[in-house]
Amino acid sequence: MRLKLAAGNWKMNGTTAALSELEALARAFPNPTVDVLICPPATLLHQAAESVRETGITVGGQDCHAATSGAHTGDISADMLLDAGANAVILGHSERREDHGEQNEDVRAKARAAMDAGLKAIICVGESLEQREAANTLDIIGGQMSGSIPDQSTGENLIVAYEPIWAIGTGKVPTLNEIGEVHDFIRTRLERRFGEGVGRSVRLLYGGSVKPSNAEDIFGVSNVDGALVGGASLKAQDFSGIIDALQKA
Ligand code: 13P
Repeated sequence: MRLKLAAGNWKMNGTTAALSELEALARAFPNPTVDVLICPPATLLHQAAESVRETGITVGGQDCHAATSGAHTGDISADMLLDAGANAVILGHSERREDHGEQNEDVRAKARAAMDAGLKAIICVGESLEQREAANTLDIIGGQMSGSIPDQSTGENLIVAYEPIWAIGTGKVPTLNEIGEVHDFIRTRLERRFGEGVGRSVRLLYGGSVKPSNAEDIFGVSNVDGALVGGASLKAQDFSGIIDALQKA
């Protein structure tokens, strides 16, 4: 059985004052029955990890470099994330692909580094509105998967997040059928590439305008094992509604 996962991506939001939200979340869920992960900005990672130590909540990074160390001003390695208390890292988010020109092969190299360091890699895939309207969604997702997911992936070290770009921060959400179609496709591709055992054990998250009000429906879709949440993960109250829905799913 795949353990469900509620993951929060704080993106470039939050200073030390935001840690109170994390503390409130830990108080609200002393023993969550699903995995709960918060990925704050790197500046907060160590403090965030300390504040949830000995709770059921874990923390992760939002990106890492493909190298273990070296002359890469401003970058952070997977080992550094681990050292700061992370157990996972989001990779290939569409905002990184767009803002920093990250290509599938960059994401794959970063994922390799993350897995080598012992982090779980949450690899993001998703189509633009133009690609969806041109009926290219599955081709795009398939290409991103073969390009970004490394061969060493297992159910333990890989999580795939389907985030349609047009649904991120817009309040627009694909229909449940559309979500199901993509998640079933991702599952089938994973099974074909890694074998049924591994393919079935990888967790698949949906991301893009997930809120307490739509979470229950989304979590009822086949092959949706949780969510990667942006805006609604910033406030403990909103994220709690999503965790509640996942615990009941
Ligand atoms: P929103 O939940 O704000 O739409 O963001 C989704 C996302 O990009 C999570 O990585």
